[in-house]
Order: sequence, then structure tokens, then C-alpha cells
Amino acid sequence: MLEAPVKLPEGEDVDLGRPAGAEPAGRPAVACAPPAGRKPANGEDVVSEDAAADEAPMLEARQLVKRFNLGTVNEVLAVDGLDLKVAPGEYVCIIGSNGAGKSTLMGCISGTSPPDSGRTFIEGQDVTVWPEHRRASLIGRVFQDPLSGTCASMTIEENMALAFRRGRRRGFRRGVGRAERDIFRAALARLDLGLEDRLTDPVGLLSGGQRQSLTLLMATLVRPKLLLLDEHTAALDPKTAGLVMDLTCGLVEEERLTTLMITHNMQQAISFGHRLIMLHQGRIILDFDQQAKRRLTVRDLLRQFQGSAMGQISDRLVLG
Ligand SMILES: Nc1ncnc2c1ncn2[C@@H]1O[C@H](COP(=O)(O)OP(=O)(O)O)[C@@H](O)[C@H]1O
Ligand SMILES: [Mg+2]
Repeated sequence: MLEAPVKLPEGEDVDLGRPAGAEPAGRPAVACAPPAGRKPANGEDVVSEDAAADEAPMLEARQLVKRFNLGTVNEVLAVDGLDLKVAPGEYVCIIGSNGAGKSTLMGCISGTSPPDSGRTFIEGQDVTVWPEHRRASLIGRVFQDPLSGTCASMTIEENMALAFRRGRRRGFRRGVGRAERDIFRAALARLDLGLEDRLTDPVGLLSGGQRQSLTLLMATLVRPKLLLLDEHTAALDPKTAGLVMDLTCGLVEEERLTTLMITHNMQQAISFGHRLIMLHQGRIILDFDQQAKRRLTVRDLLRQFQGSAMGQISDRLVLG
């Protein structure tokens, strides 16, 4: 449900980017992480636009439809014939008011909420009917709730082992070998939270920020084809949220991860990633490439949104 509308100050018009559903107008420029195989515009071996255009998308959603409570008075069309192509290494921010269908879209992609119709492809492979656990080997996910991504009663290293063995046989073996432990210690050291010395502590002892950092690390421990972040900093205090965003940016950039990040924070949506899309009533209503995104300010964005199909904008969306 939409919250109280926000009054918008006067501002300059901005380019609205490509119309929703249109093909990308050229490749995204450099932001937090340049797309895979490409170098910054001032680099030496930039892939030609033609070559880039031939590249298969890492993710393609075709005509996805998802309804809940079918045939009841509470029936809701959460995702409404949505098309989306995401290039390898592209980092896409997704915004939209509560109930716009953002999380459901991620559920359709990850298999937790399979679509009623439409198809999902990852690196050209049709995964539409793959069960969630099979897709888990391709997809890393982090949710808003820091408690949801890890198991409190298991130790840090046991949690990491589960993530590390994702999609492999014997993934649920409980013991952790020395080789794995070394990998986990090295990965944890980059968090700079001292967790590398607490491998056998139960995760339940960690703070929310520590747990969310660990979840993010686990989601990327085995390089995922897709990283899905669903408001993963929204439940954290501003300082911790900033640290987790720094970590996100570092991991995405280093690994050139294809990433979809839902955020309710417009400034975050403008500052991070190569592309910004907005969902409304299960459809993409705005799609900004990097160039258009660079020119955006929160005020401009809000002003454009007021004139869009959305009509109103929530305080939460604006203020984060
Ligand atoms: N499991 C569910 N059962 C019934 N309705 C749902 C369920 N999940 C989401 N919805 C409905 O689908 C719509 C889209 O929800 P959601 O994808 O969670 O939106 P967002 O993440 O953009 O806030 C909303 O109307 C929501 O109430
Ligand atoms: Mg949501």
C-alpha cells in the first residue's frame, strides 16, 4: 500500500532513459563495477558495441506473470508480463513502492515463487522449471532480515561450509576440513570484523550487521551467476548499512558479479550500479542506463515519478 505522498520541490527535467521494455541503448558505463569482460571507457581494450550486443544476457525474464490467491477475492497480480534482460556483469538497482512486485520478481528468478507463466533463462539456459535448490548453485541471495540468511545455532564455519558446498554432493556433511577452514578464514578477514578468529562461534552470537556481512560473503563464496539483494541493508542502522554497502560494492566489483539490488533508498539506487529500473504494479515503468542515471538526482527522480503511472511516492522510498 502506498504511504502519504511527498511534496516535491521544483527542479530541472531529466532524461527519462530508455522506455521500459526497450533494449539497452548501448552498454552501461562504469559505475561500482564494470560489466564482465569490459574495461572502463578510458581502458585499452573496450569491447565494441557490436560485439557487446552479441553477448548473451546473464539473465533473461520473458513475459513473467505471477498471481497470488488465484480465484479468490484477494487475487493479486504481483508480476504482470514482465520482460527483463541483464547483461553479464551488469549491476541493476530496482526501486518501486511497497507491493510493486520487486520481491516477487526475485522469487520468480530464484525459484522460491515460481511464475504462473513466462520463462526465466540464466546464461541462456531455461531454468523456469528448475526447483529452487537446483538454482541455488547459480544464485546468491541476501534478504532484508539479517537473521534469515544464516543458521543461528550453527557455527560460522558450518554456515560457510553449507554455502561453500551449495549445489554439490555431500553438501550437508557437517565437519569442516582444514582446507575449507583456510578459505573461510581468508574470506572473513576481508570483513575486518575479527570473525576470522571466531570460526567456531555460533552465528547467533553475532550482531545484525555482522550476520548480514557474513550472509553476503556466503552468497558470493562460490561465484554466483546472479546475486540477488532484496533490501539487504534496510534493517541495519545507517553506519552498519554503509559498511555492508561498501562490502557489497567491493565484492560485486572484484568478482564482476551480475547483480540485482532492490533498495528503497533512492540515493543508493542512484549512486550504485549501472542501471536503475522502477517497478510499479508488476511492470517495469522506468529503465535508466548508466548515462541517464549519472545525471539523476533524487529530486529529479521524484519529480519524474510524480508524473509517471505511480502517481504517488512513499516517504520510505524517498528517505530510506
Ligand atoms: N505469498 C504471498 N501471498 C499473497 N500475496 C502476496 C504474497 N507475496 C506477495 N504478495 C502480494 O504481491 C504483491 C507484490 O508483493 P511484493 O513482491 O512483496 O512487493 P514489493 O517487494 O515490491 O514490496 C503485493 O500486493 C503483495 O501483497
Ligand atoms: Mg519486497
